Amino acid sequence: MYGFVRRAFAKSMGLDDADLARPIIGIAQTQSDLNNCNNNFRELADYVKRGVWQAGGTALEFPTISLGELFIRPTTMLYRNLMAMDTEEMIRAHPLDGVVLLGNCDKTTPAQLMGAASADVPAIMLTGGPHLSGRFRGESLGACSDCRRFWAEYRAGALDEDAMRELEEGINRSDGHCTVMGTASTMAAVAEALGISLPGSAAIPAPDARRLRIAEAVGRQIVETVRQGIRPSDMLTPRAFENAIRVMMALGGSTNAVIHLAAIAGRRGIPLPLDLFDRISRETPYLTNLRPSGTFHMEQLYEAGGVPAVMKELARGGLLHLDEPTVTGHTIGQHLERVTALGTDAASGAGWCGPQRIVHRLEEPLGAQGGIAILRGNLAPDGAVIKQTAVSPQLMRHRGRAIVFSSTSDLAERIDDPALDVAPESVLVLQNTGPKGAPGMPEAGGLPIPKKILAQGVRDMVRISDARMSGTGYGAVVLHVAPEAAIGGPLGLVRTGDWIELDVVNRTLHLEVSDDELGRRRAAWQPPASMGQSRGYARLYVEHVMQADRGADFDFLVHA
Ligand code: FES
Repeated sequence: MYGFVRRAFAKSMGLDDADLARPIIGIAQTQSDLNNCNNNFRELADYVKRGVWQAGGTALEFPTISLGELFIRPTTMLYRNLMAMDTEEMIRAHPLDGVVLLGNCDKTTPAQLMGAASADVPAIMLTGGPHLSGRFRGESLGACSDCRRFWAEYRAGALDEDAMRELEEGINRSDGHCTVMGTASTMAAVAEALGISLPGSAAIPAPDARRLRIAEAVGRQIVETVRQGIRPSDMLTPRAFENAIRVMMALGGSTNAVIHLAAIAGRRGIPLPLDLFDRISRETPYLTNLRPSGTFHMEQLYEAGGVPAVMKELARGGLLHLDEPTVTGHTIGQHLERVTALGTDAASGAGWCGPQRIVHRLEEPLGAQGGIAILRGNLAPDGAVIKQTAVSPQLMRHRGRAIVFSSTSDLAERIDDPALDVAPESVLVLQNTGPKGAPGMPEAGGLPIPKKILAQGVRDMVRISDARMSGTGYGAVVLHVAPEAAIGGPLGLVRTGDWIELDVVNRTLHLEVSDDELGRRRAAWQPPASMGQSRGYARLYVEHVMQADRGADFDFLVHA
């Protein structure tokens, strides 16, 4: 009876028996007028469908939640898990043989990977690609690292309103995700390294016709992936995650990817402790000259060979597990055999690549270690994260007096107060912005430099919080401090005037306050009001979200 009714209703949409006898391929659509980064997915979905039909499948598009980074308040991270649940349940609930995941903006890609990992139906991730580099008075711009840079200059009085309006017109010129090595670029690259995206797909610019062709290829491939019975669980193995972390480190990828990778792995029951990230970072040279740590943008990375060029170089040094499977049925190593070694544009430094290389050889890395370092100490017993490649060299080791802000609203009220007792060597501390504290762990960790410090020409200070930072951000910014302040972590016990010592080289973060004094402060500590959510999704979130070092997923969604 159920099959008969299903067929009858499917036929009302023009599908015939032959269509229904083919592999049914769902296309998880996240195009939304409220998400500029995913704005090319109507067209990409059409090309995926062409590929599916060509290969003998039947393509059916369905909507899920879409999370546009810049339009959602208080933060898209609050809804990443909700989108992951939506994706997982829609895949599981429908009679799909396979699914193509269309994601692009920061949280959409990890949410879809989390959902697909749990549903474990054959799946391919297709990202929408980076947008074109921006233009402003002869400069090539990368949103949103340059949004932050120019905003700081505006706050410092170095740019006027006219310049800001001009920037607004040219900084983001097309569909696509942010073109620097921010979270969206990192997650697209990570999906490729995990083998769940087609090789070479991550860096193709959104408006480039080659992205349409890869979309069509994805459509053909998913039918074949279904026929071969390849599931996410075949690709999402501990060694595949090591590959992904390795690629992320060589790229100078986003700190947010630490959280997202832990969450995706958790969906397959694979622990990714922070110490694993740190070990791989220490072993992996930083190879890719991309902003915010370097100079270039995704467009130029694509011209220099894209993510495969980076992986090929890592493979040459024996730094990848080459026998890991991919959605195509071939291994990572088999795909890389077809990639030419570095040497063409990278060695000559010609054309798009400018005078400097984009992907460096292992023998001449941009840095001896990967982009991210894990810190520990009495201020972060369960770890904290810093993008060491984006730290001003003089702040890699720093000792300073804390200026504490108890929330984002406290920060907004006081950061530019002329009476704020702050100096360039001060350490800015922001509390109660972790997963439960905000709630949703907003990208508030890149605290603005106080105006009066900007006026002194200072553009970086040590900043510490349990929040996240945009992957496009930069500076001496310590993030994801765990346990967070709102559940009684030591970060919540810091007082203005305390001395803090940061040592990125030795991976330590120390609060110079005695245990006795910390005990007294702990006895008087009260949780913030945000912990008392009375209803709805916010309550579910606060009750079940795990700490940053566990991926900030819900405790009931990890693989049993
Ligand atoms: Fe979507 Fe940057 S705003 S990736």
